[in-house]
Amino acid sequence: MTNIKIAPSILAADVARLDDEIRDVLDAGADYIHVDVMDGQFVPNISFGVPVVESIRRAFPDAFLDVHLMIVRPVHFVEAFCKAGASHITVHLEADTPQNISEALNMARSYGVRTGLSVKPATPAVALEPWLDGLDMVLVMTVEPGFGAQPFMVDQLQKVSSIRARLDQINPGCDIEVDGGIKPDTAPVAIGAGANVLVAGSAVFGRKEYADIIRILRGR
Ligand code: DX5
Ligand code: ZN
Repeated sequence: MTNIKIAPSILAADVARLDDEIRDVLDAGADYIHVDVMDGQFVPNISFGVPVVESIRRAFPDAFLDVHLMIVRPVHFVEAFCKAGASHITVHLEADTPQNISEALNMARSYGVRTGLSVKPATPAVALEPWLDGLDMVLVMTVEPGFGAQPFMVDQLQKVSSIRARLDQINPGCDIEVDGGIKPDTAPVAIGAGANVLVAGSAVFGRKEYADIIRILRGR
């Protein structure tokens, strides 16, 4: 039985009450806190950066901070996010040259931070091949990155399955995270395709309580 992890995205949280929101989702059983960092260049939106990760780490020393860098040239910022307290850093394959992507991932590893590589919907699974054997997680975007509350892109499921099949051959311990449009109806489909970490923003935040939805998304 695969251990499914739920990673609420604080992009959908009431950031004026971020301490309470994070405490509530963690108390409700969230495994990761998904931090969507957006620079207004790689994606047409701006969210939050290093100071927010630093503050969250200070307030939640034991939380697993799953930092998703939707920024150009992530190699310039990985060290700052590692020092800020990221537990895991995912960069986008489309965000820089292959050499700089490798350098960004190696930088995170040098700080003992787990590494992930993400692909946008238009990027084929095969593009990940050079990095697959060294990753802790692959993040398959199931929406165009940049905004929450978008519809799940079913055509990404085949990509999840093919990456899972390849990872089972060369890096079976590597997780697959899906991100975007995860709801009670799409979560089981994503899990069935091979995902074991589910990012959920608008499905979680904004509700009166979080334990039920986290349990439902996990499939229990
Ligand atoms: C989109 C972000 C996602 C988003 C998910 O670019 O990477 O993490 O916050 O939001 P929902 O779960 O509402 O689709
Ligand atoms: Zn994300």
